[in-house]
Amino acid sequence: MLKGKTALITGGASGIGLAAAKLMHANGARVVIAGRDADKLEAARREIGEEVHALQVDVLSRQSLVTMASKIKEALGGLDVFFANAGVAYVTPLATTTEDAYDTLMDTNVKSVFFSLQAMEPILRAGASVILNTAWLNQVGVPGRAALSASKAAVRSFARTFSAELLDRQIRVNAVSPGLIDTPILRGVGQSEHPGQTDAEFKKYLAGAAKLIPFGRLGRPDEIAAAVLFLASDASGYMLGSELVIDGGLAEL
Ligand SMILES: NC(=O)c1ccc[n+]([C@@H]2O[C@H](COP(=O)([O-])OP(=O)(O)OC[C@H]3O[C@@H](n4cnc5c(N)ncnc54)[C@H](OP(=O)(O)O)[C@@H]3O)[C@@H](O)[C@H]2O)c1
Repeated sequence: MLKGKTALITGGASGIGLAAAKLMHANGARVVIAGRDADKLEAARREIGEEVHALQVDVLSRQSLVTMASKIKEALGGLDVFFANAGVAYVTPLATTTEDAYDTLMDTNVKSVFFSLQAMEPILRAGASVILNTAWLNQVGVPGRAALSASKAAVRSFARTFSAELLDRQIRVNAVSPGLIDTPILRGVGQSEHPGQTDAEFKKYLAGAAKLIPFGRLGRPDEIAAAVLFLASDASGYMLGSELVIDGGLAEL
C-alpha cells in the first residue's frame, strides 16, 4: 500500500507509533522513527528492520524539529507520510495541578504538533498524507482529564484547519482517535492518578478501565496502526480533516 513512499513517525519507538512504523514498513514504506530515547529508538529499529532510519528528536524543541527535517531531506529527499504521534498523558485535577504540569502536557500534545508540522511542511511532497493522533477524550468529560482532553480537542481541530491550509499543496490531514490502548503511556496515567501504584494495583486499574469499554477490553496498538495505514495510503484519498475513531465504542456508544 505504501510502496515507494517515505514515512516519518514521531514517538515511533513504542506503543502506537511503533505498531504504525512496523505496519508501514511491512507495506513497503521507507520508515523514519523519531523519539527522545536513543536506546528505545535503536531497539525499535532492530525490531522493525535494519534499514529503518531512527532520529533523536525532542518535539518540544522547534530547533530539534527543524534539524530533523533537514536530516530527512538530505537522506531521503522528502516525506509522503507524516504521523505526528508523540504525546504524553497524565491527570491534571483542577485543585492540585501545577503550572509546570499543565504547560508540559499542553506543550507536548498541542504546541509540538503545530511546530512539528511547521518544520515538516517544506519537505512534504505533493499528495502527502499527514495523520494526527487525537483521543476518545476529545468527545467526553472525565474527571481529572481537563488538560489532556483539551489538548486532544485542539489536535482534532488542527486536522480540520491544516487540511484547509495545505489543500493547495494537495496535502491531506486527518486524525486517528484511539480509545484506551494498551501501551506504556497508561502506566503513567495510572501513576499520576494513584501515586505509588504497584504493578498489581495497575493491573486492577486496567481491568476496571476495560469494564467501561463497550467492547470489553482495551485496544491494541496494531488496531490503531491499521487505521493509520489506511489514512496514510491512497485508499483514503478523498478524506480531508476527518477523524477515524477506533475506541471499542468507548466514546461513541
Ligand atoms: N494509549 C492510549 O490509550 C492512547 C489513547 C488515545 C491517544 N493516545 C495517543 O497516542 C500517542 C502515542 O501514545 P502511546 O499510547 O503509543 O504511548 P507511548 O508508547 O508512551 O508513546 C508516546 C511516545 O511519544 C514520545 N514522546 C513523548 N514526548 C516526546 C518528546 N518531547 N519528544 C519526542 N518524543 C516524545 C515518546 O518517545 P520517548 O520515550 O523517546 O520520549 C513515546 O515513544 C500519544 O499522542 C497519545 O496521546 C494514546
